[in-house]
Amino acid sequence: MSSGFIIAVDGPAASGKGTVATGLGKAYGLPVLDTGLLYRAVGVLTQRAGRDLDDAAAAATTASGLSAGLLDDPAFRTRAAGEAASRVAVHPQVRQALLAFQRDFAGQPGGAVLDGRDIGTVIAPAAPAKLFVTAAAEVRAERRWKQLAGQGEPVAFEDVLADIRIRDARDSGRDSAPLARAPDAVLLDTSQMSIDEAADAARRIVEAARARWEAS
Ligand code: CDP
Repeated sequence: MSSGFIIAVDGPAASGKGTVATGLGKAYGLPVLDTGLLYRAVGVLTQRAGRDLDDAAAAATTASGLSAGLLDDPAFRTRAAGEAASRVAVHPQVRQALLAFQRDFAGQPGGAVLDGRDIGTVIAPAAPAKLFVTAAAEVRAERRWKQLAGQGEPVAFEDVLADIRIRDARDSGRDSAPLARAPDAVLLDTSQMSIDEAADAARRIVEAARARWEAS
C-alpha cells in the first residue's frame, strides 16, 4: 500500500456517503471511486448475460471482465441495479475479483477517496482517515425516493423503505466483508444534516485525521 492519503468512506444505502466522498475528493484534490458502482455493474451485466445473480461463478466472471470504461452506464443507477448489486456482493469470489482494482485505486501515489461498505475494514484498513456515514432508515429512504423520482423512476416511498431495510440486513448479515464500522472509523450521522452540513462535518473529521497523519 502506498503512503498516499487514503480516505475511506463507508456506510449503508443512501446514507449520503457518495456526496460526502465527492466533496472530500474536491476539497483535497483526490480521485474518488464509488465502489458501489462496481457491484452495480456486476449485477446488471450478469443479468444482461442471462445468468442468475445467485450464480457466484457467473457473477465472478463478470467481475473479472470489468473495466473502468464499462462503468459509465445510467442503468447502474436504478433501484433494480442497487438490489442486483447487493445480491452479487454476497459472493466472496466477486469481492475477490474486485479487490485488486480497488486496492490499486487506493494505492495511487497522491492518495484517493473510496466509498463503499468495506473500505475501512478490508480494502484499505490502514487508511489514515475513515468515516462511517449513516442516517436513520426513514431519512435514507426519503433521500433515495427523491433521487429515484429525479431520475425519472417514480416509486412508492414504502417500497423504497422496504428496499433499504432488506439491503441493510443483507449487507450487514453476509459472511464476506459485511457492512461494518471499522473500530477506528469516525461515525457521522447525517439524519439531521443538510448536504452542506454533512460535507462540512466530514471535512472537519478528515482535517483532524490529516493533521495526525502529517505529524506521524
Ligand atoms: O448508494 P447505495 O448504497 O444504494 O448503493 P451502492 O453504494 O451503490 O452499493 C450497492 C450495493 O453494492 C450495496 O448494497 C452492497 O451490497 C454492495 N457494495 C458492497 O458490498 N461493497 C462495497 N464496497 C460497495 C457496495
